[in-house]
Amino acid sequence: MRIKKLFLQNFRNYEREEFDFSDGLNVLFGKNGQGKTNCAEAVFYLCTGASLRIRHDKQLIRIGADCAKIVAEAENRYGKLTISADIYENKREIRINGGKIAKNADLMGHLSSVFFSPGELRLIQDGPDERRRFMNISISQTSPAYYTALLRYNKILDQRNTLLKDRDVGLVLDTLPVWDEQLCKYAAVIVKKRAEFLERLSPLAGELHAYLTDGGETLELKPDKRYEGDEKEIEKILLRRLSNNYEKDLRLGFTTVGPHRDDVDFFIAGVDAKGYASQGQTRTAALAVKLAEVEIFKQLSGEYPVLILDDVMSELDLPRRKKLVGLISGLQTLLTCTHAERVLYGAEANKMRIENGAVKREKK
Ligand SMILES: Nc1ncnc2c1ncn2[C@@H]1O[C@H](COP(=O)(O)OP(=O)(O)OP(=O)(O)O)[C@@H](O)[C@H]1O
Ligand SMILES: [Mg+2]
Repeated sequence: MRIKKLFLQNFRNYEREEFDFSDGLNVLFGKNGQGKTNCAEAVFYLCTGASLRIRHDKQLIRIGADCAKIVAEAENRYGKLTISADIYENKREIRINGGKIAKNADLMGHLSSVFFSPGELRLIQDGPDERRRFMNISISQTSPAYYTALLRYNKILDQRNTLLKDRDVGLVLDTLPVWDEQLCKYAAVIVKKRAEFLERLSPLAGELHAYLTDGGETLELKPDKRYEGDEKEIEKILLRRLSNNYEKDLRLGFTTVGPHRDDVDFFIAGVDAKGYASQGQTRTAALAVKLAEVEIFKQLSGEYPVLILDDVMSELDLPRRKKLVGLISGLQTLLTCTHAERVLYGAEANKMRIENGAVKREKK
């Protein structure tokens, strides 16, 4: 997959701007606060229908404007396509080749990206929320079924949590089994897909980690909870776990078991990394995991996603930077940084200086 052109209008600090991307490495550089991440965010938005940093689309609209527009001309293995998003304060319209899509799930897979920022380098040290988010975004882009199950699961989970706060315990206990049956149906899809994802991801991440550490340490990823069997059996396990926890859930007023509470364990050199690994070790492992994510996209969809590296070079030491530049050659990459020459090491790139929401093209 490749993005050829990007057009932004009233998006963040861009009034009106157009970007031409090459198929290889594209470097957006410039001083802080100029719009480098904003551009990366716009590309990610067209890939996932979601923003990186915020919950409300409103913040994407340039202050003082009514509507933000993002348009991309892209190419995937089925051919050329145009994806556009019109973002208003309370609604948005996403179109693929001019046709409005009915739901976000229909956007997934047309143009995919793997987004990588200093935040992702903290994947292992951060809380379980971030690791679930990583899996949710990554799996959703290749599996609309996962994305749909996740949306439905979250909706029913909200309703279940509201019910748990009701004072009429009799009513709650009567109603819970009805919710739980629905909840477990979607939960099983999520659990199964995550397990498959981690099974694919772990050996790939292991290989990349060996490369990044010169064969120094092994890396393995596993779900923190075990569920055996197919979707039907997982559904039954989950139903049992939910009913075993009625008392606890009622006491606490929220649902204490299910995929919204599950986590991933990382083992570096055989040891659970969360409690023991150093910062450098967890960063390198996170880098390996993100690069493995790129490979999984390729395996599942038959083509590479667009790689977005937002400010990550500054977080890595010199040997890792050089290895990363080597690994991404051949992938379309959008890389943001403050000083282009400090990250390229002679690699050819389409360099664009970003200044106050405008792009200034430069010769190599
Ligand atoms: N809705 C908006 N309307 C206008 N300006 C906005 C809006 N949202 C963000 N900005 C501006 O965009 C700028 C930040 O852009 P961005 O995050 O892309 O910077 P950057 O070039 O990545 O900088 P850094 O090197 O610090 O990461 C800020 O000046 C911010 O005020
Ligand atoms: Mg930035």
